[in-house]
Amino acid sequence: MLSNQANNGGKRTSLHGHWSSRMAFILAVTGSAVGLGNIWKFPYIAGQNGGGAFVLVYLICVVLIGMPVMMSEILIGRRGRRNPVATMALLGKEEGSSQHWKWVGGIGVLAGILILSYYSVIAGWVLAYVVKSASGTFSGASSEVVSSVFAEFTGSWQAVALTHTIFMGLTVLVVARGVERGLEQAVRFMVPALLILMLTLLGYAISSGYFMQGVEFMFTPSWDKLGWDSVLAALGQAFFTLSIGMGAVMAYGAYLPEDTSITGASAAVVAADTGIAMLAGLVIFPLVFANGLSPADGPGLVFQTLPLAFGKMAGGVVFSTVFFVLLSFAAWTSALGLVEPAVAWLVEAFGKTRAQAAVIVGGLIWLIGLGSVLSFNVLADVTFLAGTIFDNIDYLTSNIMLPLGGLLITIFAGWVMCRNSTADELGSSGTLYKIWRLLARVLAPIGILLILINAI
Ligand code: PFF
Repeated sequence: MLSNQANNGGKRTSLHGHWSSRMAFILAVTGSAVGLGNIWKFPYIAGQNGGGAFVLVYLICVVLIGMPVMMSEILIGRRGRRNPVATMALLGKEEGSSQHWKWVGGIGVLAGILILSYYSVIAGWVLAYVVKSASGTFSGASSEVVSSVFAEFTGSWQAVALTHTIFMGLTVLVVARGVERGLEQAVRFMVPALLILMLTLLGYAISSGYFMQGVEFMFTPSWDKLGWDSVLAALGQAFFTLSIGMGAVMAYGAYLPEDTSITGASAAVVAADTGIAMLAGLVIFPLVFANGLSPADGPGLVFQTLPLAFGKMAGGVVFSTVFFVLLSFAAWTSALGLVEPAVAWLVEAFGKTRAQAAVIVGGLIWLIGLGSVLSFNVLADVTFLAGTIFDNIDYLTSNIMLPLGGLLITIFAGWVMCRNSTADELGSSGTLYKIWRLLARVLAPIGILLILINAI
């Protein structure tokens, strides 16, 4: 099947077609990056890790490690123009190393499947909150009511399993139909709309009287609270939120037109993603303090703060419904990125149709996801290593698999690929290229290794 691919003087084309424009690519990667990681995960992880110092380390990881890893992934993806497993095998041989680099793609396929298994469960909560918002559950509700609505919902494994099933069904449907049509349109509308709603919420947070307390929590670093485990959590969050270290961006890069600037596209995605996460923090933490909640409340944090704010706002029912609909869209466009490596691999390596691949991968993910469904109710007390089944899958993927994938990807781009190949893809040998090469060869790998070794 792969031999169908053209190879004109070293420039390949992808079996799956190409993005229609530079903007389409940026939108797709932004759609994959901006998701539950920004609005649900970032605030609670920052809260659990003490705020300020964590946020600072996270930002440093995003710029010095995240950015070069993202550029490396895109350039590898575009050069290979295949699914991440085949691309790594092909370039490994082509660059005079080994086809065993395919295992890096393999880890990515697996990481995507494991991440989506719990991501879909949380996305299911978001779907349920669309319905709860629209039916006025949160209108004028007190903090106690909002918390008990959350506890009651997540305490019912049937309810959580149902919404997990619906979300996986929606994901499979879109993946099966092919990416371009619906997705581009969805992202084009979703990211700006999400931004507007977040700004509205920011206005509310500012008027809550606790804004400065929130800002202080987020930006005043108290270094004594920061252990290596928090530094690892910051690194893991940087990888997770940017969708890097698992081949998703590599798979998207395979469909990137030759003349698009990889540096420019990466910078745009990183800026949009980081901006939305910061905005989420600035909205959530003032609300946490205004309502006497704890920033370390864990995965339920956003589901307990935002409905409270909406419940007190004029037109809150509409705002709240629209917000959770947008968040569902954000989760959905991210889910597509999470399955793309596995789906592209099944299509290319086993000759499956996109629809068949989507059903196989989706079914497997749904099944694994039942472990996370039960982690919030029936099996909530069954804990080992990092905590519940959900906690363990999250820890393993974000804090180990993604950084490890990122480490191997930068080593590959920085040391295995020759200078000509990477300069060719990045389109320059000027200062920007030199900075990338320094980061990809030295700073990012050493940084990731240092954090991994010290934390584990
Ligand atoms: N970046 C997504 C988020 O922040 O919600 C999660 C994610 C999507 C991770 C796609 C990895 C990926 F390939």
